[in-house]
Formats: sequence, structure tokens, C-alpha cells
Amino acid sequence: TANAMWGGRFAFGPDAVMEAINASIGFDQRLAAQDIAGSRAHAAMLAAVGILSDRDAEAIREGLLAVMSEIEGGTFRFSTALEDIHMNVESRLGELIGEPAKRLHTARSRNDQVAVDFRLWVRDQCDAAEGALVALQRALLGQAERGADWVMPGFTHLQSAQPVTWGHHMMAYVEMLGRDRGRFADARRRMNESPLGAAALAGTSFPIDRERTARELGFDRPMANSLDAVSDRDFALEFLSAASLCAMHLSRLAEELVIWSTAQFRFVRLSDRFSTGSSIMPQKRNPDAAELVRAKTGRVFGASVALLTIMKGLPLAYSKDMQEDKEQVFDAADSLMLALAATTGMMEDLQPDPERMRAAAGAGFATATDLADWLVRAKGMPFREAHHVTGALVALAETKGVDLSDLSLGEMREVHDGITDDVFAVLGVDNSVRSRTSFGGTAPERVREQVARWREMLG
Ligand code: ARG
Repeated sequence: TANAMWGGRFAFGPDAVMEAINASIGFDQRLAAQDIAGSRAHAAMLAAVGILSDRDAEAIREGLLAVMSEIEGGTFRFSTALEDIHMNVESRLGELIGEPAKRLHTARSRNDQVAVDFRLWVRDQCDAAEGALVALQRALLGQAERGADWVMPGFTHLQSAQPVTWGHHMMAYVEMLGRDRGRFADARRRMNESPLGAAALAGTSFPIDRERTARELGFDRPMANSLDAVSDRDFALEFLSAASLCAMHLSRLAEELVIWSTAQFRFVRLSDRFSTGSSIMPQKRNPDAAELVRAKTGRVFGASVALLTIMKGLPLAYSKDMQEDKEQVFDAADSLMLALAATTGMMEDLQPDPERMRAAAGAGFATATDLADWLVRAKGMPFREAHHVTGALVALAETKGVDLSDLSLGEMREVHDGITDDVFAVLGVDNSVRSRTSFGGTAPERVREQVARWREMLG
């Protein structure tokens, strides 16, 4: 039989394959609350401008509340034949209240309906991401506060570079996540305009009040162009871009957790709550959560590329291609939220090993730069020459198989006779980090200032 919603000109119903490729109810039922909120705002507006009678609007309002409670209670029967959430809700509304339900779709199309539903959903996700990012920042701040002066190796190329503090390393992620929050907030601000009332594509001849529905749904204003309103998904892409950058950041921290928890590093221990064992190797504590955070990034990037590809080259205005936007965004949002929650859990529980980190901090001649800087500061040597002298000292230590601080003053003076025995003070890792007091540097006092600044900002 022909479709009840648009079957007027059809003699036959759709082929089973047509129904299968066309239906979105399997996933867009997640938009139920947004769909009902949009319909309520639309119906109230239609009544306010005199397109609907108050009685009909009231019947619609109550009917929509009843539909919502059926959906929330799990008793609603979603139908694939009814394609999507919009027609499922409207059809059930008709069963419940009869004739007034048929008046709801006046001055509206599924094109502006889905655009408004999806915007509302993505807007909520921006807020959820913001909340989850703050929670993770707090966990990192806790780590930074405890270990503001714990010395650890700092790396470039994953080769020992210069000693840094644990607190400084944690605060680096706090900064990154702060920018992630800014991106979600920016995206939210830009997406917060209402497409409702754009109708199919051209607007409508009914005297609707778009300002009113926009306000009712928490939007700042109605979108100014009806073609744009129903045909762009840049707001979803901005969410996916912000999510991609955030997931990229999480993957780096996750990778560090994987490295740091190896038997070779043992800088940190993940809690039992966030580790897994092996079914064959009894000694194993595997960082599965960190690995999965690292891997979820692939889904988020994938969604971003998929939706860009779906949108690329689409002529204005709506095309059914755009129905493919939702699964990508749902999956990316779910993956990101799970990754944020797992990372927060891992960081809250994480047990760093300050002794192990400190012992590793001096390895690989990590204070060589301090030695070169000392030659400049104490001996007035030009930096390039100091670099050369220090390089020779490192080579000497390396041949002897010892650290820089294990060379005797005599051995050092053979390389450069200006060296005096106060050199040994700069070869210690604690002195090294304490000396790096430039703004944004790793010195514990600088780190504590940043922790205090962020505590203040997070409230
Ligand atoms: N399920 C559709 C989507 O997600 C709703 C809009 C359908 N509009 C249309 N003209 N077929 O995009």
C-alpha cells in the first residue's frame, strides 16, 4: 500500500530494498526529544499567529507529551515503513489525537524539521563535551598539583632531551584541552541559529514567526536564508572537527600512558579499575583503556572525513545524502565521550612513580644544555662554542660509559681548561628544572602559578 504520509500520488508501496536503504528510524530515533521539542515550538507558534486554533494546539501539545512519555517508557513502537523519527512521531500523534495532528505539518517540511532536530542534538553534545573536558582538566590539575616538583625526563624525538617536571607535563594537556573547549564553544555559538521555518527550501507563504520558535528553542536568532538553513551541515562538521582535535589530544596522552606503564619505563601505574589482565600471562597488567582511547580517534577522524565527503559537491538545497550525517556524528560523539570518561578515570587513579621518573631524568646526558648554558653564564663563552665544548664532554662521558656528573674535574679541564668545580651544581636534574623559570617554563614555581590560574578559572 502507498505511504500514508505522502502516498497521494503513489499506486504502490516501496520495494523492500527501497525501504531498507531509505529508512533512518534505526538511528534517528535518538532525535526523538529534539523532534518533539521542535514540534511543540512550531505548534505553539502556529497558534500564536492564528494558523492553528488554540484547541488544536493544545491537543497537539498534550499529544506530543504523551508520545514523548511512550518513547521514554520504551513502549513506543518504531516503524521502518514510516521511515524516520519525524513521521513516526507524527503518525503516533495522529493515532492519539486524530485530526489536529494533521495540521501540525503546516508551514513546515521534514527538511527544516531534521535540520532543527540535529542542530539541537549537536548543540547538546557541545555542552556535554565541555563538561567532560572540564572533568578531565580537574583530574590533570590534581596530578600537576601533587607532582609540581617531581622531575622526569623531557623528550624530543622520544630521546632524552632536558629534565622537566611532572606537573609541567600534566599542565601541557590542561592547556590543550582548554583550547578544545574553546573550539566546542565557538562551534556552538555559530550553530545556534534556527533553521525552523525555512520549510522545504524556499520559506513559506504562511505568516509564521521564526523569531518566536528560535527563542523558544534557545537559538539566538533564525537563520537568514532558507536554502542555507535546510542544506548545510557545516555545524555538524565543526563539531566533528573540534572532536577530531580533541580525540587527537587524547590519543597522545593515551600513547604516553601506554609507554609510561611499560616495565621498561614504569613511570606510572594504572589502577586495577583501568587495567586488564592476560588469560595466559599471569604477570600482565595491560593498558587496554589507554589503547582504546588511542584507537577511538580513528572513528572520530573517520566520521569527519565521511561527512565532508558526503557533503562535497551536493547541489542546494536538501538531498537525501544528508541523512547519512547522523550515524557519523552519533558514533563520533559516543566515541569521544567514552574516551573522555576513560581518560578522566585513568588520570584520577593514576599512580606516578616519582623515584623512577627522577632516576630516568638524568639519563642520556639530559643536563648537557644546562652545562652549555653555565659556560655562557659563568664563563662568558659564546653559546655556539659552549655547545661544542659540551658536545666534546658528552662524547668523553659516552666513551667512558658514565654520566656527565661522573667525569672528574681533571677530565673536564682536559676538554676545556676554563671549567671550575662549581660546574657540578648545574649537572643535577633538580637544579636543571629549578633554573627554568622563564614564563611558561618547567620550574616548579612556574608550574604552581599555572595550576593556581587554572584552579581559579575552573572555579
Ligand atoms: N530522514 C531524513 C533525514 O534524515 C529527514 C528529512 C527527509 N526529507 C525529505 N525530503 N525526504 O535527512
